[in-house]
Amino acid sequence: MANIQVELCGLSFRTPIIPAAGPNVGNGEQLRRAAIAGAGGLLAKTVSRTAAPVPRPHMYKFGTGGMLNAELWSELSCEQWLSTEYDSGIVAAREHGIPFIASLGYTADDLCELGPKIAAKGIAAIEFTVHYLDQAAIIQTARALRAAVSLPIIAKLSPHSGDLGELAAALEPHVDAFACINSLGPTLSIDIESAEPVLGSKYGYGWLSGAPLKPLAVRCVFEVARRVKKPVIGIGGICNGKDAIEMFMAGASLVGICTVVLYKGHRIYRTIAMQVNQWLDEHGYTDIAEIIGCYVKKYGHGQRIVTEKEESPQVIPEKCIKCGQCATVCCYDAVTAPVKQLAKINSQLCVQCGLCVSVCPVAALTFQARDKITRLPPVMLA
Ligand SMILES: Cc1cc2nc3c(=O)[nH]c(=O)nc-3n(C[C@H](O)[C@H](O)[C@H](O)COP(=O)(O)O)c2cc1C
Repeated sequence: MANIQVELCGLSFRTPIIPAAGPNVGNGEQLRRAAIAGAGGLLAKTVSRTAAPVPRPHMYKFGTGGMLNAELWSELSCEQWLSTEYDSGIVAAREHGIPFIASLGYTADDLCELGPKIAAKGIAAIEFTVHYLDQAAIIQTARALRAAVSLPIIAKLSPHSGDLGELAAALEPHVDAFACINSLGPTLSIDIESAEPVLGSKYGYGWLSGAPLKPLAVRCVFEVARRVKKPVIGIGGICNGKDAIEMFMAGASLVGICTVVLYKGHRIYRTIAMQVNQWLDEHGYTDIAEIIGCYVKKYGHGQRIVTEKEESPQVIPEKCIKCGQCATVCCYDAVTAPVKQLAKINSQLCVQCGLCVSVCPVAALTFQARDKITRLPPVMLA
């Protein structure tokens, strides 16, 4: 079985699947359950000096595997976390031999007051979230926390904070690692029968998380990983082992999960870790380190891939189930698939857009093998 233990900031994680901040780790008991369920390490809900005024309702299922939320940070006071909840989390982490990370927000003053108190509890690292800050305040906050504690510091970045690669590069002298991304928004969803928002926040605004977020999260992780040398925790839309593998390839050393835990329960930590292990074994890897950042090594300098000779996809007759989906999605009239007949591609009309290949449910359409593709010389991205 491939090794999936990971070191980050000098801490050892038994698997690379850890919680991302949310109600799934919203108190000591939830943290204990995450540890029992096989989380690779623990990370608690974001705590600030004042308890959050969380509106009702504040979570809403969106699409497939997505969620809108208006949960803010912890509704529990920092006193309760310091007197009770952290202790339960720390005990659970010790029992399972895994690190415990606290998440703090938001201003420099919040972090300077809470940071040393957290450090005194014996917590392994502090993540700080920048969700409600502008770029100048983010750097100021990082500097303040660096001055206040000697623990490893992880900056959790939000997709609305601008160029995350640039931001990470500016933060790198002050922090030890990055986590990205937080949820995306603000968003708005209206129940059209009542013309009311689905969430109880001001204007009904909320933040998108879960499966729909994944391509954005993967891009952000890649963007940060290609700009900085410090490790990245990949978060956003991870629902299964293959999603996690994609994040590792984009440069993540660990992955954090929140929404999928809310939908499927704590047991998902172990399930995803097992799926990662299985994928590595099936693909002949012996250690997860072999795939971490492999995409960054390949494309981190801005290489583009372009086909030497643009070719239309080919139909693999023994695979085609004659469902016709490829023809339905072809707006260039290049694919025909009459009832119960094999799909056929007209290469004169085909513009190689790729949509038919990606909708085929049985991979019966294929572009030419990658080894026939010419790579252009590296070009730096603007
Ligand atoms: C209900 C809910 C509450 C969240 N609370 C926090 C929080 O307190 N602090 C934080 O940094 N991120 C918070 N997040 C964001 C998640 O940690 C994570 O970054 C984001 O949801 C993307 O990951 P996912 O798609 O696995 O959920 C929350 C997300 C959800 C869905």
